[in-house]
Order: sequence, then C-alpha cells, then structure tokens
Amino acid sequence: MAVRPYIVGNWKMHGTRSMLSEARAIDRAAERLIKVEVALAPPFTLIHATRKEAGLIGVGAQDCHAAEGGAHTGDISAAMLKDAGAGFVIVGHSERRADHGEKDADVKAKAESALAVGLSVIVCVGETEEQRDAGKAESVVARQLKGSLPTADGAADKVTVAYEPVWAIGTGRTPTTDDVSAMHRAIRKVLKDFYGDEAGAKVRILYGGSVKAENAAELLAADDVGGALVGGASLTAESFLGIIAVAA
Ligand code: G3P
Repeated sequence: MAVRPYIVGNWKMHGTRSMLSEARAIDRAAERLIKVEVALAPPFTLIHATRKEAGLIGVGAQDCHAAEGGAHTGDISAAMLKDAGAGFVIVGHSERRADHGEKDADVKAKAESALAVGLSVIVCVGETEEQRDAGKAESVVARQLKGSLPTADGAADKVTVAYEPVWAIGTGRTPTTDDVSAMHRAIRKVLKDFYGDEAGAKVRILYGGSVKAENAAELLAADDVGGALVGGASLTAESFLGIIAVAA
C-alpha cells in the first residue's frame, strides 16, 4: 500500500443535511488519523455544507459537466464545484457510464474541464462480470484508461485512478487479492506508457467495490493499491472510520 493511503467515501445519491453529523464525526476522527488521507464526495447539495462542517478532510463531487457553463439545465460545471468548496471530482463512475451513457471521451472531457479550474480528478474504470468472464478485464480497463485519462500539461499530478469492477459494486462480492494485484499492475503499466515512467509511477490507484472494515486489510494489501473508493460503507462515520482505522 502507498505510504499515505487515500480513502475516499462516495455517498452517491444519499444524504440530506441530517447526514452532516456523519461528515463532522469523520472529520474529527481524521484529525487523529494523520496516516491516512481521507475525503468525502457527498451529493452536490451537500458539498458546501460538508466543506464548512468538515475542515480537515478532502471534499469533492461525484460528477461535473464538461462545459464551462451555458444552457445545460440541471448540470453543474467544474467551476461551480470549486466555488462550492470541492477540491476534486470523481469522473467516469460506472453508474454514470451506465445510467447516462457516458463514454470514455465524455469522461476525458470532464476530467480536462475539472483540471482547468484547478480541481483534482478521480477517474473510475472497471469491467463488467461478462467482460471478466470472457477474459477481457485488463483490455477493457486499458481501453477505458487510454480514452478517459486527461492529457493536459501536468495532468498526472492531479489524477487518481479508481479501479472498480462493476460486478463488485454494492454486491458484497470482491475480487481475490491476486486479481486486484494483477489489475493494479496492469493499470500501472498503462499509466507509465501514457504519462511516461516518472509521472505514471506517481498516480495513485484506488480499489473500489464492496470495501468494508472486514475486507479492507486484504484489499489494501494487494499490489499497488493506494487506497479505496468506498460507497455504502462510507455512509456512517462508524463504518467509514472502521476502514480508515485499518488503512492507518
Ligand atoms: O464509488 C464507490 C463504489 O462504486 C463502491 O460502492 O457500495 O460497493 O462500496 P460500494
């Protein structure tokens, strides 16, 4: 695992203001857990309040529009996220790819737009069960990476990759440690080819998909796992802090 693991909670479409107490509790504990970099990605509606309530952890968003602004009813630009207090944005989550038909080129455009306003990005990739069963997991992920990663100057310094096998999200199922290691090694190779050896070596690679306190030690110990992107288990301070404690 990386020197300072990065543990990010993705609240997805969960959370009203009553959940700010969870963010506060995570933030208070994070003060003591200096060995771990902790962040939360609440829904858009809670970004500003979370930033105000939780001053120590990172706060980010789950998506942004690729355009700087304009006639895009219901969408949120990267600059708006920054203004609300976000420091990063997740792009290309498989739920966005599935629910909104986002393609690699869309994900890349969103990532570029986020970098342009000074946000960091977490670029998500991951294969479906069918693709894994067909022996195509690594080629699918490599293709997603090459199409989704931003290429602006200095992009590698602001990019984190999250490997989230689609079939492991919210299912309680996880890949074996060997499978996670093999995929993270493959991702590292793509990153080095894409950004060059030096820059590509520094990009953090998170694992996501049914991470909880009980399996975090094993998943975080796999080769080149720099942290975790956590969904369901990030929704309460108790369960999220359980994972953070394992990572510390
Ligand atoms: O982005 C996090 C994610 O998709 C994993 O969700 O609920 O399986 O931890 P979950």
